[in-house]
This record gives sequence, structure tokens and C-alpha cells, in this order.
Amino acid sequence: MLAIYGPAVTSTAISFEIEVPTVDDFATRLSVVQESDPWLVAEGDGGQVVGYAYAAPFRSRAAYGGSRETTVYVHPDHRRLGVAESLMQELLARLVEQQVHVVVAGIVLPNDASIALHQRLGFDCVGTFHQVGHKFGRRHDLSFWERPLDSGNPPGGSDRSVAKGSVVLQPAAADAGAELHGAAVNDLPLPIAEGQR
Ligand SMILES: CC(C)(COP(=O)(O)OP(=O)(O)OC[C@H]1O[C@@H](n2cnc3c(N)ncnc32)[C@H](O)[C@@H]1OP(=O)(O)O)[C@@H](O)C(=O)NCCC(=O)NCCS
Repeated sequence: MLAIYGPAVTSTAISFEIEVPTVDDFATRLSVVQESDPWLVAEGDGGQVVGYAYAAPFRSRAAYGGSRETTVYVHPDHRRLGVAESLMQELLARLVEQQVHVVVAGIVLPNDASIALHQRLGFDCVGTFHQVGHKFGRRHDLSFWERPLDSGNPPGGSDRSVAKGSVVLQPAAADAGAELHGAAVNDLPLPIAEGQR
């Protein structure tokens, strides 16, 4: 997963992080998320991670408990195959099961692909913070998107976990960040049951 996320940090403004997190930091993030929320990975034919999506608390104060912020990343070689849509539909379905009321997503502009994806998933843009980020010598806007989950419009259909290619969705293994070391994905432990760490 860090092999997917790292380049977004080092060569794009999609993430406002400046430094790529260490494997340990990334594994800690995964572990913290999995204490309360799903973190899903999509695996390609060879079992390699081709994308991931997770939900995390939108804000920490108690009254935000019914809200989550979602994140999705797909490896550049596996885009436009329905991976992100499958991941997100499965993620949203699980959040519905958790009785989450609304999900939000922040999209650094420009990001036409993410905007199109979120529109397709039923998110609406609720506003844009202007020039709140500064990366690679340029200021960037941040748009916020929301999607109610219990409005009688449940995400996903009967085939929500199947992308156009042969992709399998799994809960993330707790140490999936180990890919950063260049470990062969086949050497990684099999995905474990959600909630285990
Ligand atoms: C945004 C991103 C997650 C989309 O992943 P993906 O697996 O390629 O998306 P999908 O194949 O599931 O696309 C689903 C739909 O979203 C829209 N979409 C996705 N990418 C698009 C693009 N580059 N241009 C226009 N529409 C796009 C289309 O409607 C697409 O359906 P279609 O292919 O049938 O037309 C991927 O481009 C990515 O990882 N980008 C970098 C990280 C990022 O921006 N994450 C979001 C942070 S807010």
C-alpha cells in the first residue's frame, strides 16, 4: 500500500503530506483505523495490492461519531478498471452496516479523476476551501464532498465487490505497509480477518 501512497506524497499534491510515512507509521495508521473502521485492499491476479480504501473518524469529538471520512488510492497501472468504485462501494456498504450516517471526502484540487469517482458514487460537493495547502511551490484548494448513507439510497448493488478486472477485495493485513521494503507480495501474510491485528 505504501508503494501506492508514497508517489502521491512525493510527486503530487493529492496528499498534503510532504514526507512519505515510514512503514511503521503507516502500519500504525492501519492499525488505528482498524480499531473502529474498515480498511480494504484490492488484490490483483497475483495477489498484489492494486488499491486500498479506508474510513476514519471525520473529527474526534463525540458528536461526530456518526460521520466518517473516506480515502481511496489505486495503483496507476490499475486505474479505470473499476477498482476504486468497487472498493468504495464495499466500504460504504460496511459503513452502512456500522450505522454511519454520513461520509465525507476531501479532494485537493485539481483532481478530475477523484471528482468524477465521487460524483459517480453519489457524493455532492459542499464547498471549497481556497489555497489552504501549499505544496511544490503552488497553493491548492481543498473541496469537501459528502454522501448520506441512510437516506434510502444504499451504496452498492448485488455485485458490489467485483471490479471490471479480476480484483479481490480483502480487509487489509495489519502489516501491509511492509511492501515498502520491496518484499514480494507473495511473501506477505495472507489478509487476516477484519478487526484482528
Ligand atoms: C481517483 C482514483 C482513486 C480512481 O481510481 P480508479 O480505480 O481508476 O477508478 P474507477 O476505475 O473505479 O472509476 C470509476 C469511475 O470514476 C470515474 N473516473 C475515474 N477515474 C477517472 C478519470 N481519470 N477521468 C474521468 N473519470 C474518472 C469514471 O466515472 C469511472 O467510471 P468509468 O471508468 O466507467 O468511466 C485513482 O485515479 C487514484 O488513485 N488517484 C490518485 C489518488 C486519489 O486521487 N485518490 C482520491 C483522493 S481524494
